[in-house]
Amino acid sequence: MFGLIFATVSSKKLQLPANAATCRALVRALLAWFAAHARDLPWRRTRDPYAIWVSEIMLQQTQVKTVIPYWERWLRSLPNIQSLADAPPQTIHKLWEGLGYYTRVRNMQKAAQQIVAEHRGQFPDAFDSILALPGIGRYTAGAIASIAFNQPAPILDGNVIRVLTRLFGISGNPKDKVTNAKLWQLSEQLVTISFQTTAADTCSQLNQSLMELGALICTPKQPKCLACPVRSNCVAYRTGRTDEFPALAPRTAPTARLFAAFIIQNRHRYLVQQRPSGIVNAHLWEFPNFEFPTAPGASDLNHAAETLFGQAPQSTRPLCTVKHTITRYRITLTAFHAALPNAAPRAKTKSRWCTLAEMQKLPFPSAHQKILKHLAQITVPA
Ligand code: ADE
Repeated sequence: MFGLIFATVSSKKLQLPANAATCRALVRALLAWFAAHARDLPWRRTRDPYAIWVSEIMLQQTQVKTVIPYWERWLRSLPNIQSLADAPPQTIHKLWEGLGYYTRVRNMQKAAQQIVAEHRGQFPDAFDSILALPGIGRYTAGAIASIAFNQPAPILDGNVIRVLTRLFGISGNPKDKVTNAKLWQLSEQLVTISFQTTAADTCSQLNQSLMELGALICTPKQPKCLACPVRSNCVAYRTGRTDEFPALAPRTAPTARLFAAFIIQNRHRYLVQQRPSGIVNAHLWEFPNFEFPTAPGASDLNHAAETLFGQAPQSTRPLCTVKHTITRYRITLTAFHAALPNAAPRAKTKSRWCTLAEMQKLPFPSAHQKILKHLAQITVPA
């Protein structure tokens, strides 16, 4: 039935990837599979575009099981667009703490404020209006338009790229312009067919079936092809080449970076500072710290403390070392207790003396959050 359909699509010469009958068969199989196998995720129990938007932005950061408690806590604290628009910056940063890429959460607040100003607080349902919101790109706009409003808007993220490149044998790099355009076109072809199906919510279900298939079955390594509802239509499976798709460029190895943080205590308070705007982790709080090209010795630490506080510590004592990998960097951060009587941070830095309980209310980047947890464990409550 599908004999003539799967020509491998090269990034140079574009051919129509599949005929309409194939696409209809794929859509039917995907919808049936999703109805039977979809995970019961909390954001799948709502049609509220705000709640779906929050889930989509969080899911860009990390995996489903990590997102669930963040999403639930967020919706308890900020149940609607108006509450997000009005929230203090510290609240939104704290709710996002640990997810990283804090620009995303600030963009969400800007978008909520824009929705209040321009759409009377109602999440817009027109695709172009969704796309015009800060921090919402083509994928997120498509996800919201299809999942919340059942519109035939295509989606393309890492999971969907994997599914489509394997299904249709698309051998070009999916980040290249021509191949990327072809993948969007395929995604659109499928969701458009689902729109013509008479059942309810088919665009929502079809797009989510692509995401779900990529997450559960069509995984990057050792895909579970025998459980795949569309394997008979899959070029990669039929030709034994699932490991060749998607043809992404190899990732560059993360760069190692070394930091020392100074834990400066004055009775039961600690010195912390807020990171300024315009840099990574802007607005979050941290222990004063310094980057070193190699592991610092005592004189390097003294020198760094002089730069940070205008004085060398009377003594330094290692407290703990934490490791944290973000996209491009493998960070090793060693915290040192530093005896610095009368420590006063540089004038430019916004700093505070905080108790442990006060620090726990502030948003910290993940590596510093790990130091804070360590401090809390070893500190006897006052
Ligand atoms: N990944 C991206 N969006 C998702 C969703 N709505 N459900 C599960 N995984 C996803």
